[in-house]
This record gives sequence, structure tokens and C-alpha cells, in this order.
Amino acid sequence: MKIGILTGGGDCPGLNAVIRAVVAKAEANGFEVLGIQGGWKGLLERETRPLNYAEAEEIFALGGTILGTSRTNPRKIDNGVATCINNFKALALDALIAIGGEDTLGFAAHLASEGLPMIGVPKTIDNDLLGTDFTFGFDTAVSIATDAIDRLRTTAKSHNRTMVLELMGRHAGWIATFAGIAGGADVVITPEHSMTVDEITAILKQQRQRGKGYNIVVVAEGAEIKGLGNVASEETDAFGHKRLGGIGEQLANAIKEKTALDTRATSLGHIQRGGSPTASDRILSTRYGLFAMELVLKQDFGKMAVLRGNNIEAESLQRVREGIKTVPDEFYAIAKQFFC
Ligand code: F6P
Repeated sequence: MKIGILTGGGDCPGLNAVIRAVVAKAEANGFEVLGIQGGWKGLLERETRPLNYAEAEEIFALGGTILGTSRTNPRKIDNGVATCINNFKALALDALIAIGGEDTLGFAAHLASEGLPMIGVPKTIDNDLLGTDFTFGFDTAVSIATDAIDRLRTTAKSHNRTMVLELMGRHAGWIATFAGIAGGADVVITPEHSMTVDEITAILKQQRQRGKGYNIVVVAEGAEIKGLGNVASEETDAFGHKRLGGIGEQLANAIKEKTALDTRATSLGHIQRGGSPTASDRILSTRYGLFAMELVLKQDFGKMAVLRGNNIEAESLQRVREGIKTVPDEFYAIAKQFFC
């Protein structure tokens, strides 16, 4: 049996740990693994290389992806879908494991509906994928963001400043909410729980009045704040997503204008996606990789590995096409309790 594997979309810590687990279990069962390089672009262009456990053994702690990635969308390319199907056959693959977020797995779901034996593994630091409690990469991003808040706190306190930290989160504020709770943020603004500039400054002033000498404001890149301009650039990727970034700076300027508070903005950007995965992400990635191989062994295709509670289970790949998993109000309420 020959199994293809690819990583697509934005990279994230834990991708290599999934690859290692897949290769280990495949080799133990006498299967070949073919790495498809650069996401769907590699399948379109038949850019591949064989993977073996001797190479994959030590990659579990390595950030990024040894296979490379891209945001190539075959549906936006002439005959892209047909080329993928033909190349799948030409490469003599018996199954393809796609590791990705909504875009990569959305296309994997499409290929599954065209009859190809597809398996998905849910990845994204944003944790906004439907069907799974958590995606790998998220825990690492939250740890990095929490560390950033801890560091901003000491300098904010020394200078009596208001610090605005912009975190990733295009459609959902999972990283902002979790890091906001873990780091004790004074205000958290997310795409699901929008606020106006006046509401934000009212909270900050109230905190100063009760004697707090500084503030930490966390904002997700995809949040919309009434009273601020649009921060999305006109540039879109192949899946139609506009490039985000800049809301933190805009919010800091608005706070400065409306209050006398000495305010600074920091954007953590791709630092959240780089480097080594946390122990928790290494374990989740490893479990996902091994489970994906179990699905291959059972020939239970058209499925993805998901986390429910503490169990890894199978879910239809089609689930990712139904929308986005947002932060529940009850969870945001934990962060909100401290906006006082
Ligand atoms: O991986 C998801 C994500 O981190 C989003 O939160 C962010 O908007 C996007 O990727 C940025 O991706 P890139 O700059 O790599 O295209």
C-alpha cells in the first residue's frame, strides 16, 4: 500500500509530529509513504519524495513542516481538480492523508466526494475548525501569546502604560480568549464579541480609577471595532481570505486619542505559528497521526481524526465545509469577568 501525505495552508507547530507518527505506523505495517511537497501545489505538479522513519524519527519537536506548504487552491486553477485526481492515480496512491485547516480539508472533502480515498487531520493555530474540540498548534500559540502578555505586563506596570496586544484569529477569537484568560488581560476583543472604542475606554478608565496603574488589552486580528476603520488589505489568497493585521495599532491610537493614557501596540504575528510545539501539541499531533493511519488500515475513508473530550474519534470530512467553530459565550464570559 502506498500512502500520500501533505500539509496545506498556514504552517503550525505539530505538523512534523503528525508526519512522524504516520510514517512510523505505516512502516510498521509494511506500507510506503510518499510526501507530497507544498500542499495541493505538490499534487498538481507531482512534486513528491519518499519518506521513511529514519528521516522522520526526530522531527516531532521541529516547528514548520518538512514537506513545505502553500495556500494553493486547485479549484482556482484550470483543470485543477481533474489534474489532482489524475496525479493521485499516476502516483499509484492507495490513500491520501491531508493535514490542514478549513481550506485544505475543505478541498480534501471535495476530493473525497469525487471518490478518492482521503483522510484528514485537523490543524490550525486558530482552533476554528468544526468537528473537533481542539486542533493541534493552538496550545503552542496560546502558550506563546500568554508569555507575551506576561512580558507586556511587567513593562506596562513600570511605565503605567496601556498595552494593546494583537493576536491571530481571523474568524474566531480562540487564541485571544484563551491567552487573555491565562494572561489575565483587562479587556479581550474578538470577532465573535465585538466592542466599541467607547466601551473599551470606559473599562480602561474604570480600572485606572480603582487604582490600577496599567492595562492589558488583547485584540484578535479579525475583530471589528465600531469607530475604527477597516484593517483588511485588498490582497486575498487563493481561498479568498483578505490579509489581516493592524487593528492593534489602530485601537492603540484610538485609546490615545480618547484618553490621556500612554498607550503602545504590539502585534505578535507569525511568532505565534513558529518554533517547537508544546508537549500537549506534540501528544495531540502524535495521536492524530496514529489515528489517521488506523482509518487508512480500516479503509474508513472520507473521515478526519478529531478530538472529543479526551478521545480521538472519526468525523466526516464534509463537516469542515459547514462553517467555522466560534468561541462559545460561556467561555468568553470567563475572560469578561475580569473587565472591571
Ligand atoms: O493559520 C491561520 C492564520 O494564522 C490566521 O490567523 C492568519 O490570518 C493567517 O494564518 C495568516 O497567514 P499568512 O500570513 O501565512 O498567509
